[in-house]
Amino acid sequence: MRQVSENTGKKFLRKIAVIMAALLVVLVAYGVLGSATVSLATSVQDTDVTNKASFSTDVIYQIVTDRFYDGDKSNNPTGNVFNTSDLTKYHGGDWKGIIAKIEDGYLTGLGVTALWISSPVKNITVIDGSNNNASYHGYWGKDFFQTNAAFGSLSDFQELISVAHAHGIKIVIDFVPNHTSIGVYSEDGALYRDGSLVSTYSNDSQGIFNHEKEWSDFGTAENQIYHSIYGLSDLNQQNSTVDKYMKDSADMWIGLGVDGIRVDAVKHMSYGWLKNWLGSIYSKEGVFTFGEWYYGGITNDAEFSNFTNTSGMSLLDFRFANALRNALGSKTGTMVDLSSVVSSTSTDFDEVNDQVTFMDSHDMSRFMTLSGNNARAVEDAYVIMLTSRGVPNIYYGSEQYMTGSADPNNRGDMTSFSTASTAYQVISKIAPLRKSNPALAYGTTAERWVNNDVYIYERQFGNSVVLTAVNRSSDTGYDITGLYTNLPAGNYNDVMQGLLGGNNITVAGNKAVTAFNLAAGEAAVWEYTAPGSSAPIIGNVDPNMGKAGNVITITGEGFGDSTGTVKFDTAAATVNLWSDTMIKVTVPSVAAGKHKIYVTTSSGTTSNAYDGYDVLTGAQVSVRFMVNNATTAYGTNVYLVGNCYELGNWNAAKAIGPIYNSTATIGLYPTWFMDVNVPAGTTIEYKFIKKDSSGNVTWESGSNHTFKTPATGTATVSVNWQ
Ligand code: NOJ
Ligand code: NOJ
Ligand code: CA
Ligand code: CA
Repeated sequence: MRQVSENTGKKFLRKIAVIMAALLVVLVAYGVLGSATVSLATSVQDTDVTNKASFSTDVIYQIVTDRFYDGDKSNNPTGNVFNTSDLTKYHGGDWKGIIAKIEDGYLTGLGVTALWISSPVKNITVIDGSNNNASYHGYWGKDFFQTNAAFGSLSDFQELISVAHAHGIKIVIDFVPNHTSIGVYSEDGALYRDGSLVSTYSNDSQGIFNHEKEWSDFGTAENQIYHSIYGLSDLNQQNSTVDKYMKDSADMWIGLGVDGIRVDAVKHMSYGWLKNWLGSIYSKEGVFTFGEWYYGGITNDAEFSNFTNTSGMSLLDFRFANALRNALGSKTGTMVDLSSVVSSTSTDFDEVNDQVTFMDSHDMSRFMTLSGNNARAVEDAYVIMLTSRGVPNIYYGSEQYMTGSADPNNRGDMTSFSTASTAYQVISKIAPLRKSNPALAYGTTAERWVNNDVYIYERQFGNSVVLTAVNRSSDTGYDITGLYTNLPAGNYNDVMQGLLGGNNITVAGNKAVTAFNLAAGEAAVWEYTAPGSSAPIIGNVDPNMGKAGNVITITGEGFGDSTGTVKFDTAAATVNLWSDTMIKVTVPSVAAGKHKIYVTTSSGTTSNAYDGYDVLTGAQVSVRFMVNNATTAYGTNVYLVGNCYELGNWNAAKAIGPIYNSTATIGLYPTWFMDVNVPAGTTIEYKFIKKDSSGNVTWESGSNHTFKTPATGTATVSVNWQ
């Protein structure tokens, strides 16, 4: 049993509120109640499924739709693309199957509150002749306005959304705007818009695709963006038709009720186009969006960190995943290494709690295989992932100890839906804490005790605390002496009730934990949920980027039950919804740039500063800026700077670049170019500058270039260096 605290009553009220909110959502979904009651449902608190912006209190479960559960045999593809004994072909899993596993309690019992499903869009329906694979994984899109018939019809998708929401579960779709399918070997990369052909790859008169001769060698950012990855037909997002296509498609799926988007291969699209696309999504609805920037290391990667800190979307946290896999899976790293990654990412990432953590995926070996079939290692890894900073994401089937190394063996059919597996039990005991104890959703992390085998760390938000201890060793127990904690004095029982060997601990008034032995393989979690907070504390603001007029969500605690005020620096924002743990406000008309956000309660207490929300100048478009004849000495690069926030407000230190000069079909030295998000329908002034390796700046001479950006769509503007 957990320590009994004064907030038991409050927890009970929260539970009732959640149930009532879910009920209201169902009633509204079935048209029983008018939409006027929606605000009642949303005013409860942030566990409500209608909070699409913030996933801080959620646990995501990643499903390869084709491999989870076949709930409808009638939609299974026929012919050579379907073969349940071949992992490279369709197996029949579908949305009806996911619905069945929501309704039979498997997923709700596990405690997950969001499902990341395969891309729902129509894919190629034939075998890809270059690799003999079918499109079961969903990464070979063909028509982003229609469903993949093997997964279900549009009405099946709508049913999935409403059943999920009625059970307090959000739906995240995988989305793949970088490419269609592999060219000449199957359907020639053809892209359709709701049944009408837009273009094939080889007969592309409108420039829908990029046509670099060689595949990407992954050598430079530029090469990764404009070349094909592995032969996939690389879409030219800078083409207005493609830009509109991807904005409209995202709008369509959001309109169907999707709560979040996982963006495939963000490293392979231009930063400027992505930010313009995300700006469009967020002005429709601020759904939680996280990208896949594949990274194999644990050390800071400047481009990875820059992307997650400035793009407006979260990333899958590869550094955390790799460190966790090294420490508990392959044992090529230690708990000391894991702890140091947790500590360095807390400063490398501006919003470490918004990154999506994972321990295995469809692109890496399953944890069971990685650890040499060590079930306890799988369980211990879940304990760490579920109590660490970030939004945890569980890969389907690893809770049933599924095995498999590389693709496609790591994408097998679900082997069991047993609710008795120890890993299932571990997850189901810890997952609810993500909602009940804000230390997990929003807290800081402090290392409390560490050696190569043992990691003991504490999360804290306000006065709420979660202390986690894991010993990865299979043969050595450790005496834990000299351990301190911010848990209030008292006795604490393991949240998992000893499932992984965890004991009770005693905390003395001086914060010292009475010495105990942490046995080989043992894991324990001890928690204290404070009875709310009398002072407001901001945990998260989501999304963290957008334009005036967008609605954003502020989560945390102690906001109070009556409406107070929210300020962007000194400018007050219109409040749309207010509860003790969640506020929704409209971004006020303030100067573009980063703004601090403060919450002040109705009784006049002001929160910590959220630092900071990125206000864009307005709606964005992606413009390709090109300069010809910009010759440079070795080591000198060209940058772009101009008179708006997006172009650095004439500050050479904030200029965009170094810009690119080595893509044959777009621009080669001494031509330089970059695709940049800029305010739509606005006359902007800009110049190119040269910066040498010591940072000396040479400006173009003469007057500024001017350009009126389009109100929608994309544009290219090309000048000679002056
Ligand atoms: C990354 C995905 O996770 C992977 O599975 C896929 O094949 C590539 N992107 C291409 O879409
Ligand atoms: C400084 C640059 O030298 C100049 O070229 C440019 O026109 C101005 N910034 C704009 O204020
Ligand atoms: Ca099926
Ligand atoms: Ca690309």
